[in-house]
Amino acid sequence: MKSSELRQKFLDFFEKRGHKIITSASLIPENDSSTLFIGSGMQPLIPYLLGEKHPKGVRLCNSQKSFRTEDIEEVGDGRHNTFFEMLGNWSLGDYFKKEQLPWIYSFLIDEIKLNPNKIYASVFYGDEQIGVPKDTESVAILKEIFKKYEIDAEDTDFVGGKEMKEGERIFYYPSLKNWWSKSGLPQKMPIGEIGGPDSEIFYDLGIELKKHENSLWAKQSCHINCDCGRFIEIGNNVFIEYKKTNKGFEKLEQKNVDFGGGFERLVMVNQGLDNIFETDLFLNIIKKIEELSGKKYQDDKKSFEVIADHIKSATFIMGDNKSIVPSNTGQGYIVRRLIRRAIRFGQKLGIKEGNWVEKITKIIVDDYKNVYPELETKAKVIKEELLKEEVKFNQTLEKGLKEFERGEDPFILFTTYGFPIEFTVELAKEKGQEINLKDFEEKLKKHQELSKTASAGMFKGGLANHEPQTIKLHTAHHLLLAALQEIFGKSVKQKGSNINAERLRIDFSFDRKITDEEKKKIEDIVNEKITQDLNVVKREMPKEEAQKTGAEMEFGVKYGNTVSVYFIEDKKGNIFSKEFCGGPHVPNTSLLGKFKIVKEEAVSAGVRRIKAILE
Ligand code: ALA
Repeated sequence: MKSSELRQKFLDFFEKRGHKIITSASLIPENDSSTLFIGSGMQPLIPYLLGEKHPKGVRLCNSQKSFRTEDIEEVGDGRHNTFFEMLGNWSLGDYFKKEQLPWIYSFLIDEIKLNPNKIYASVFYGDEQIGVPKDTESVAILKEIFKKYEIDAEDTDFVGGKEMKEGERIFYYPSLKNWWSKSGLPQKMPIGEIGGPDSEIFYDLGIELKKHENSLWAKQSCHINCDCGRFIEIGNNVFIEYKKTNKGFEKLEQKNVDFGGGFERLVMVNQGLDNIFETDLFLNIIKKIEELSGKKYQDDKKSFEVIADHIKSATFIMGDNKSIVPSNTGQGYIVRRLIRRAIRFGQKLGIKEGNWVEKITKIIVDDYKNVYPELETKAKVIKEELLKEEVKFNQTLEKGLKEFERGEDPFILFTTYGFPIEFTVELAKEKGQEINLKDFEEKLKKHQELSKTASAGMFKGGLANHEPQTIKLHTAHHLLLAALQEIFGKSVKQKGSNINAERLRIDFSFDRKITDEEKKKIEDIVNEKITQDLNVVKREMPKEEAQKTGAEMEFGVKYGNTVSVYFIEDKKGNIFSKEFCGGPHVPNTSLLGKFKIVKEEAVSAGVRRIKAILE
């Protein structure tokens, strides 16, 4: 069955049973700061699970766009993806276990024709600590269901290390596996959160992916929750009837059902596959990566999967009604991480073509626009942002990787080369090394404090933030001042500066308009210095000594007894620029890109202003 057919069948099935189909909520939570993204179908429905009236009634179903950040590094085993669709149906205080379980099994077995002999179930063992009993009711219902398919399903408590016996099909597991809430275990739930026992559905793929000799699972006995890869969870019935209060767990006024089924996995088993990247939900993307790289999926499955998954996620997040674009904080940072990780794996695959990420995006938009039309509405934003991000990162990736090899500080890799810290950690792991995260966090904190000071208008360098592009423009600003002095003489002094990620601005003493010819000359000098691979070196010294070097001082700034001076110099020590400055700067001018003046104007008598960018 095609994936689109399966999705529709699910919605039709529940519509026939009195459910209203609701559209997928945005991937970005609304009035809910507990998670960065929507990670399950129930999340946007929490107010209604708590008792508020839903305008469409008490029976709902949909396919919900979901994204789980915690799975970013799991991608690569054929089964995990960060963006996924969750097929869901809900009872808001209406039907309960004896309707839900027969319905969902009927959908799986009668509608999409899964083999009942390959289906297994888990149920809640009970938890004395929170006063919630064993779910014998679900077990009785499940036994009846299996009987319909002439299967005598035995139930048993899960015991670690015990082999599964012929006939055993329903397993009781403790809270660790069979309690569901947005925050996980009962102990992890904040007061006010809802959750409940669940009954999960597993499919036996009959293969044991990780069960080779050296694996962690090699000597362990397999069970339905085992990680060896033989069983895969394809759905979860959560019976949400509890709320955590400061007195413990209390029953909600209404009993809810929250079913969620991982769509990609359902499509996979329905299509008789054991890998979601071989389903029609990924086929076109994989083909495109094969075309771009000249390699086959089988050659390097992990790289293909990371690229396909991450670009799909980034596309859906940028193509959401509440579009999030790459940045250095919050949700935007995740988008950046996804794109940059995909680019690195693309490099690993040897993709040479420029702007290839955007080509894959196009396929994703086409594949999904009928179900999620917002992707098409936002196609322009997605394209533009991807191009920007790809260009930005490609400029520094190679150099950053070299610096990484040389043992550069992860914090510098972060600020100068735009390497997300998780990315550096991963690179280190591949080499069997470890990163000192504490050190990174301390530096980041200090840096953020400095940035705060900057945004309060007190940061000396005139930097709006410490994004890589801002830092680059800061270094270009030093080159520019030196170039102005080279052409117009040392009497040219800086009178003010302001730098953000888009452009630099310098105010300087000069009493007439600068001609186009002169502008060109200035640009040429700066660009020449950029291509000369000059080092940017920070030296700390007593103030007097620094003054003796003739370094530029910022107008109107009070300096302490020890100052730092930034020198831009060649390998032999020939200095082009020296300025009193707190940084930060890129370590080498070759990282800057092409310098261009975009505006020259008067600010006041004797003071001119130049705005410039790096292309
Ligand atoms: N909310 C449940 C889950 O995500 C269905 O597994």
